[in-house]
Amino acid sequence: MTKLKVNLAKAANNISINELALFESEIKLHRANIYNKTGKGNDFLGWVNLPSSFTEELLAKIESDAKAMQQHSEVVVVCGIGGSYLGARAIIDALSNPFSPLQSKTERNAPLVIYAGHHLDEDYMTHLLNLLNKKEYSVIVISKSGTTTEPAVAFRLLKNHLEKKYGEEAAAKRIFAVTDASKGALKKLATTKKYSTYVIPDDVGGRYSVLTPVGLLPIAVAGFDIRMLLNGAKNMEEFLQKEENLQKNPASLYAVARNILYRKGKTTEILATYSPAMNYMVEWWKQLYGESEGKEQKGIFPAGVGFTTDLHSMGQYIQEGLRNLFETVLTIENSKTKLNIPVDPDDLDGLNFLANKRLGEVNRMASLGTMIAHVDGDVPNLEIVIPELNEYYLGELIYFYEMACAISGYILDVNPFDQPGVEAYKKNMFALLEKPGFEKETAEIRKRL
Ligand code: PA5
Repeated sequence: MTKLKVNLAKAANNISINELALFESEIKLHRANIYNKTGKGNDFLGWVNLPSSFTEELLAKIESDAKAMQQHSEVVVVCGIGGSYLGARAIIDALSNPFSPLQSKTERNAPLVIYAGHHLDEDYMTHLLNLLNKKEYSVIVISKSGTTTEPAVAFRLLKNHLEKKYGEEAAAKRIFAVTDASKGALKKLATTKKYSTYVIPDDVGGRYSVLTPVGLLPIAVAGFDIRMLLNGAKNMEEFLQKEENLQKNPASLYAVARNILYRKGKTTEILATYSPAMNYMVEWWKQLYGESEGKEQKGIFPAGVGFTTDLHSMGQYIQEGLRNLFETVLTIENSKTKLNIPVDPDDLDGLNFLANKRLGEVNRMASLGTMIAHVDGDVPNLEIVIPELNEYYLGELIYFYEMACAISGYILDVNPFDQPGVEAYKKNMFALLEKPGFEKETAEIRKRL
């Protein structure tokens, strides 16, 4: 069983039981292609059994390296981009006190995890290196290809800084690499410098890699329970594999519901959350779905909003703008803490009607009210519900999203596991930077500037 629910009640005008039933045989086929590894991109289905096949040996190595970093570092820099950092950041943010950067290491009970290599901004990197002058730190560098420019450049800067600060030998003990088993510059560097190294399996693509050391090492360093995370993911893996009934299988149901809406012209899906802790979960989801589905001139455009904040910025458009939208609300049923709104004898702010109500209840009413308003404005709403933010339910959620994405990609008839379009900007950037081997492209692109 799983407590994660997909609720289609607020899309009932747009998705009928009959329409769902029409997908039954197709979903059977897509599920068979996933589990038997016979569909498009079948060499990238390693993620399907990751939770159930994780070895104790690998878990122990991750926990031991995490402990070493926890002992000697105030700060751990995770250096990666796209699938090589978003999953870790999504989970760490979801589980952290939002003010943890202002807490001491003892209060946090773990080093502060910060990020680099996910863009090329000069000022960000300068400020980061200045900060690291004053901090004891380690680096986790993550790149499957080992050749991605953003993390490679950031890592060169970090490695140079670490080696100057601690000396080459001690620096090597503070660097942890997660990369391909044999290919790429990072692998070569890690072997030469004898960094503690982890392998990203060949058959797991970047955006499906959060349940490998790519996500688990940073999450463990941040002090969270990666065994619980994997347990939740494993429960979802087993549940989804067993449950063949489309309407009882949340991954199949979500995949079908979004495709029914897409075929009716709802080409943008907005993932809405009501907790700022989930902002990076939305970013991770955007990458997972955007890179998996947006190809061959098709695909649902994944957008994200954080409510109620964005009700005061994007709310107007969602309510009354172009009607190509549907919304998926990610609901967390229970907060971790309780906070009652106090009674105020003067009631000058007129808020005594809320006195003694929990803030979480006000947030829930905002969510329900918004769903109804948006449905009235012809924005069908799907809802995904999880009981609370802990490692177990986040593990379930991650695996659920991955499976739903694979099924949804197959419904769209694309390969959900490649990303050929990501190369276009790289070719131009290398040409502009005069990378050896790009001489012809350099001459061509100069004419277009
Ligand atoms: O999902 C993907 O494959 C990509 O988003 C990659 O994760 C991203 O481009 C980073 O690649 P790499 O890990 O090779 O540095």
